Amino acid sequence: MKIKMLLPLVFVAIAAPALADDGMAIIKRDCVTCHNISGPAPQTLKEVWNLKGPNLAYAGNKYREAWLVSWLQKPQRIRPAGEFYGNHIKIGDKHDVVDEATLKDHMVLSKADATAVAHELMELKQHDDLIAQEKLEPGTGSKMMGEMMFDKFLGCMACHRIEPDYGGLSGPEVYTASRRLQPQFIASFIRNPQAWEPKTWMPNKHVSDANLQKLVYYFDALAAGEGNGK
Ligand code: HEC
Ligand code: HEC
Repeated sequence: MKIKMLLPLVFVAIAAPALADDGMAIIKRDCVTCHNISGPAPQTLKEVWNLKGPNLAYAGNKYREAWLVSWLQKPQRIRPAGEFYGNHIKIGDKHDVVDEATLKDHMVLSKADATAVAHELMELKQHDDLIAQEKLEPGTGSKMMGEMMFDKFLGCMACHRIEPDYGGLSGPEVYTASRRLQPQFIASFIRNPQAWEPKTWMPNKHVSDANLQKLVYYFDALAAGEGNGK
């Protein structure tokens, strides 16, 4: 008798999450061939070298949801040499150059799929602990001072572009970082890149709290700037 009474309830419980799961179904079908969504970050250089796409296992700690929704509908390259960059760079006369022929366009999602997928990606929060450590004050900073620090004092520009054609090739462009990324993630990744990606090439420069804050403001200023092409 009791079982009969319970049946309708069980039905509701199964039916409701089925809709919300659509985004995860798409991710499991279309994304996991190239992106890690659950495991730990690569622990060996071989794993890094074999990466076909950036790690999304902590997407919810990293991205802005609105940016994910729009990027997935209209993906544009963020890493000049894709992922993993070592596989897409050839030795040029003076500098290394990107071997464009080896880079493929990213798959495009419909608005409905992008919205569902972004929603699910925002649930992936492997590193709430690291995010909780970042205490950022709202404010603004000087673009010129930020650039001095980014380029001259900390040497970040060797790997990152601060304008579409200005800067290094191995890391993601930073002139769109503020639009893409949560400020706490930016601060935390610079504070300790290896806490997020144990085998990343990005060095830990032991940036002080005050300077982390200035870098976050600098990226805001860059993203708000004219002529950054995005
Ligand atoms: C064939 C491999 C491949 C597949 C399949 C793929 N991606 Fe990607 N994805 C990449 C590569 C490579 C990049 C780096 C693009 C760049 O910046 O040049 C990327 C970048 C991204 C980014 C931006 C991340 C960042 O910080 O640079 C997101 C978000 C993303 N993919 C989500 C998805 C989702 C969601 C799916 C499934 C619907 C998917 N991808 C399917 C290879 C793939
Ligand atoms: C040797 C090259 C290198 C240097 C130098 C470097 N980075 Fe990076 N950086 C990277 C790579 C590569 C990534 C992508 C993370 C990964 O996949 O390993 C990255 C990621 C980042 C991210 C996250 C961006 C995103 O879109 O995910 C920020 C922010 C960043 N770096 C800022 C800095 C700052 C600030 C400095 C200077 C203190 C710096 N980087 C120095 C290579 C470098």
